Amino acid sequence: MAAPTQDAAHEGPDHEGQAHEGQAHEGWSSRSAFILAAIGSAVGLGNLWRFPAEAGANGGGAFVLFYIFCVVLIGLPVLLSETLIGRFGQTSAPQSVLKLAAASRASRHWGALASIGVLSAFIVLSFYCVVGGWVLYYIGIFVSDLFHTGVAGGAFQGRDPATIDAILPGLFGNGPLMVGLDVVFIAVTLFFVARGVSGGIEFVAKWMMPAFFVLIVAITIYGAFTGAMGDTVNYLFTFEPEKLTGAVMLAALGQAFFSLSLGVAGMITYGSYVGRDVNLAGTSLIIAGADTAVALIAGLCIFPIVFLAGLEPSAGPGLMFQSLPIAFQDMPAGSLVGLLFFVMVAFAALTSSVALMEVPTAWMMERFSLARGPASGIVTAGALALGVLAALSFNTLSDAHPAGFIPMFEGLGWFDFLDSLTSKLLMPIAAVLTSIFVGWVAERRIVDSETGLGGGLLRVYLVLVRWVCPAALMAILIIGIFPSILGA
Ligand code: PFF
Repeated sequence: MAAPTQDAAHEGPDHEGQAHEGQAHEGWSSRSAFILAAIGSAVGLGNLWRFPAEAGANGGGAFVLFYIFCVVLIGLPVLLSETLIGRFGQTSAPQSVLKLAAASRASRHWGALASIGVLSAFIVLSFYCVVGGWVLYYIGIFVSDLFHTGVAGGAFQGRDPATIDAILPGLFGNGPLMVGLDVVFIAVTLFFVARGVSGGIEFVAKWMMPAFFVLIVAITIYGAFTGAMGDTVNYLFTFEPEKLTGAVMLAALGQAFFSLSLGVAGMITYGSYVGRDVNLAGTSLIIAGADTAVALIAGLCIFPIVFLAGLEPSAGPGLMFQSLPIAFQDMPAGSLVGLLFFVMVAFAALTSSVALMEVPTAWMMERFSLARGPASGIVTAGALALGVLAALSFNTLSDAHPAGFIPMFEGLGWFDFLDSLTSKLLMPIAAVLTSIFVGWVAERRIVDSETGLGGGLLRVYLVLVRWVCPAALMAILIIGIFPSILGA
């Protein structure tokens, strides 16, 4: 089959009869709506909760610098590749890959890269909403604290930060409550996804992302004046090469992917709603830049408060939920700032969870010719079922190790298993396939014109996507999976 011309390739969803029947594919109302929604997808718990936790647990500066390296040399080209696949296809992620494969006379099997992505998005959605539920719980605590003890607060005063259970017996010891909060968070996500691309997803991004940026800047300035900023800068930006082990590199790569929403077909899906007039390279740069800036600002926002209180930076996932609330207690207007902080986190989490839900929803709508409501409802029910396992792994199921027989996942409970399975295995694999597909398999003429790049920049992009991304991704994957290779 001859490759279609650019215009023919974008006539609409029914092109080549592969897209969903009868329905016009939805779209963003403007370029800025796409940018806000994509930044909303990228900026989330990954930046605020996962990035500081991973940086703290993986030695600070070495992790941060390698993370930035991953974003620029691997994340950015893969981000551009994903959005270009979506924009070319204008349909669900797997079908978009198939369209590009067909236009390039390549095998249909390439569709697998997006199918892996849809599966990952579904899995991430399931545990992401559990954490979203914790955020809601903290909002509740700080609101009640405001009412009971005033702006200065006291809900966490004198608690021992050593274990999560010591601080929040009400949450971590209470499986039904955690499941209930998960239900509330996913229901809010469903509400917006069911309302559609411009009516729901775009609406959330337009209101919540600007509010998010105002809040994060305000809290960082507050931390800079009251917290230990000098220690933080030393911690985050001092590079100690001996700390750069295989495990740290894989953690940084996984974090870069998670944070940029890559390898889960999310940017293919969001790209499919983008109009022909948008320059994809420029917008990818804005999205990656904003996401990285927010991760670094989150570090600069959280660690000064943690260091001031003399708490451990390597507290891992407990950092935001455990150390920070205690640290707020010793600061002026701690209760009010604590509340604003968790409202900000909730905004960021919601703009990401709608993106995660949209990926499998768009796929179900197209694959089974379903309307948006039932498709998103089915996705929600499935994600809740898996999410319950993740939620209960903190108490009722705490001894369950679903994949303990695989060395990489040894000793992990349900929650950590789902997290590692996606960020350290499925997302990088999908990204290797994406870069090989766009770099080597897809028709050059289509790739060239979709990127919006010309001359030297186009050549740089092609070198990155053809050579650097696959090689670096495979090397890091192998080193991470078999750490003994480097003795790391
Ligand atoms: N990038 C989001 C974060 O950093 O929290 C998580 C995420 C959202 C991953 C949407 C994937 C996705 F499609």
